[in-house]
Amino acid sequence: MKVLVSEQIAQKGIEKLTQEGVNVDVKPGLPREELLSIIGEYDGLIVRSNTKVNEELYQKAAKLKVVGRAGNGVDNIEMEGATKRGIIVVNTPESNVVSAAELTIGLLFATCRNIPQLHNRLKERLWDRSGLKGMELQGKTVGIVGLGRIGSLVATRLKSFGMTIIAYDPYISDTRFQKLGVEKKETLDELMSQCDILTIHTPKTEETYGMIGKEQFKVAKKGLTVINCARAGLINEAALMEALKAKIVKRAGIDVLEGEPHATSPLLEFDNVIVTPHAGADTVEAQDNVGITVAQEVVSALRGEMVPNA
Ligand code: NAD
Ligand code: MLT
Repeated sequence: MKVLVSEQIAQKGIEKLTQEGVNVDVKPGLPREELLSIIGEYDGLIVRSNTKVNEELYQKAAKLKVVGRAGNGVDNIEMEGATKRGIIVVNTPESNVVSAAELTIGLLFATCRNIPQLHNRLKERLWDRSGLKGMELQGKTVGIVGLGRIGSLVATRLKSFGMTIIAYDPYISDTRFQKLGVEKKETLDELMSQCDILTIHTPKTEETYGMIGKEQFKVAKKGLTVINCARAGLINEAALMEALKAKIVKRAGIDVLEGEPHATSPLLEFDNVIVTPHAGADTVEAQDNVGITVAQEVVSALRGEMVPNA
């Protein structure tokens, strides 16, 4: 069994593959042309979010039997091409959700209290808080779009700060809203018009891409705080920039940017936008979990055994 790991995963994951008798090549950052020229040798491929696993790659991957996504979102993997060739796609949907929820909350705090800006001033030897007054969370309303694994973790954690939690997710049961103590909103507009802080936690699909755009910002409360620790483009970046300029959005905390992994987004120009380079799952715990889980799943798939997240 020969597996190519094309992005950095935890050493524990690599060790797991080796222990199971897999011949592993770890080549993070491999140029696309090189990846395409060698993929034909491999039975398995393990990726994170940067490697585009698409028709171009499948056509060169004559032996490929399994693609392991070391993480949750599979929007960088073309499912149709895999399915028609009998290639199994596995992911690790549970392994990094706590870390992603915690970074969401970290961005929320950093944004609402201007922590990076204050830090930068002091590092420049300036004892100066002027123009950087923050906002308390207590008593505010947070609007969650997508009350799945990460959205729910964010909801339960933010409740302890005395916030009102409302959510829009037409695909989950009322019972789940009740269990989580979250107020259900029937429409996105209703949520947008009521929240002080918006955080999105949907997958990236044709339906959700750009779902927060110009029209949604039109009905938003003035002074909204926006957090996106899910996927680039769920919140239309051009619309977000317009809303920042119009002061409808007062501040934003963003982990995922259009054009990533390149630091090209015009959002980087805004002083009131705090950014991280898709670091939601970058903790020792999450990466160990993800690495070990994806290794186990890829091995099971190659052996023709049952795979939980196929
Ligand atoms: P999940 O599948 O558990 O939950 C997603 C929720 O979104 C579901 O409850 C679903 O019903 C809801 N949803 C789908 N379409 C919707 C729509 N049109 N309107 C409203 N709700 C809708 O996913 P998750 O594990 O919670 O992950 C959420 C997001 O976070 C994904 O995009 C994932 O890729 C991303 N993620 C990012 C990082 C990071 O490093 N920043 C880490 C892990 C996950
Ligand atoms: C995920 O979907 O799991 C995240 O994007 C995190 C990652 O890929 O590291």
